Amino acid sequence: MLKGRNILLGVTGSIAAYKAAMLCRLLKTSGADVRVVMTPLAKQFITPLTMATLSKNPILVEFFDPENGAWNSHVSLGEWADCYLIAPATANTLAKMACGIADNLLLTTYLSARCPVAVAPAMDLDMYAHPATQENLEKLRAAGVAVIEPDEGELASGLCGKGRMAEPAQIVRSVEALLDQKKKSLAGKRFLVTAGATIEPIDPVRYLTNHSSGKMGYAIAEALARRGAEVTLLSGRTCLPAPEGVRRIDVLTAADMYRAATELFPSTDGAVMCAAVADYTPAEVADRKLKKGDGDLTIRLCRTRDIAAELGRMKNDRLLVGFALETHDALAHATEKLRRKNFDFVVLNSLQDPGAGFRGDTNKVTLLDPSGAEELPLMCKTEVAGRIADKIENLLR
Ligand code: CTP
Repeated sequence: MLKGRNILLGVTGSIAAYKAAMLCRLLKTSGADVRVVMTPLAKQFITPLTMATLSKNPILVEFFDPENGAWNSHVSLGEWADCYLIAPATANTLAKMACGIADNLLLTTYLSARCPVAVAPAMDLDMYAHPATQENLEKLRAAGVAVIEPDEGELASGLCGKGRMAEPAQIVRSVEALLDQKKKSLAGKRFLVTAGATIEPIDPVRYLTNHSSGKMGYAIAEALARRGAEVTLLSGRTCLPAPEGVRRIDVLTAADMYRAATELFPSTDGAVMCAAVADYTPAEVADRKLKKGDGDLTIRLCRTRDIAAELGRMKNDRLLVGFALETHDALAHATEKLRRKNFDFVVLNSLQDPGAGFRGDTNKVTLLDPSGAEELPLMCKTEVAGRIADKIENLLR
């Protein structure tokens, strides 16, 4: 029932943390990919080793890995998750969530998560019944958090009453229901995404290409598909596997990509032009390997057709998103591309920004539309893809 879903399981410092092991196991057997974030106190109740073994993923507790300084990004965790389930959730964590306090990784992830959030409270009956706790739960419900009601029964304190964390099987059912309920925001929409580098053959063994890894375009295709859109990924050269649920069509040259894109575009609601398309291609392709001579070799190149500009002419009320990679006068050049290619918005990356552009896993972009520019901080490419998907969603609304 949870096949292909990413569940982020938050574990806080409650005696009910022992049930988190069973919960994690049930989530896994339902087909979910599970990552676990724990509060520092939760480690006193259940070991990270247990949770790491069951989830088959390293456990996240600190903002940084103390061993190697690697940053655990709460934003990308929130972006990765289809559901953030905090179980058990203590009175203390619920209170902090209700007030927006962010003094550990579990809480910062809550504040930045855009996915549905569910909490399974676990505490003593009087703590649960206390007006402060009830008020905090009300606040969280009002903020859209699903509260999985605790059971009545014997509690760790020896008392009997309401406060015992719901049984793991019940929590899994609640998560399934929550995800079913949450309608996919781009369901029924169709998109074309171009990605990767084109390859322009010179002869049977040599070609012209560029440094594009395809990561940005693949991340966008995945982000749109995860929101329920039907995505066709028109892909040049990359080493990446097709994202789940995305139809991938491989092409080689700029001319192949042009033909496929102009054919596919009319049956979509929009396109994101992420491919690094060659602007020039050899005027002639030798059908036999060119043998070297003593002198220099000149290869005559001719212009390829601009796919984005052609889709810009065809677009009518479809959405068209372009990329601009600039080394100087970035904003001026990107504004010119926005207008000339009839884009609804342009994702501008400047090669002058460290961490932006080709190959890496991060990017620093500015989203530019006719009403102005929004500069985003350095983020991993999946987060950038999420922001682009958000903007597409807003424009289609
Ligand atoms: N693009 C395209 N087809 C081409 C060339 C570019 O679809 N033949 C798309 C890219 O996918 C990107 C945008 O157009 O969305 C980039 O615009 P472009 O003018 O090609 O940028 P540069 O090549 O960087 O332009 P310039 O050389 O003028 O800087």
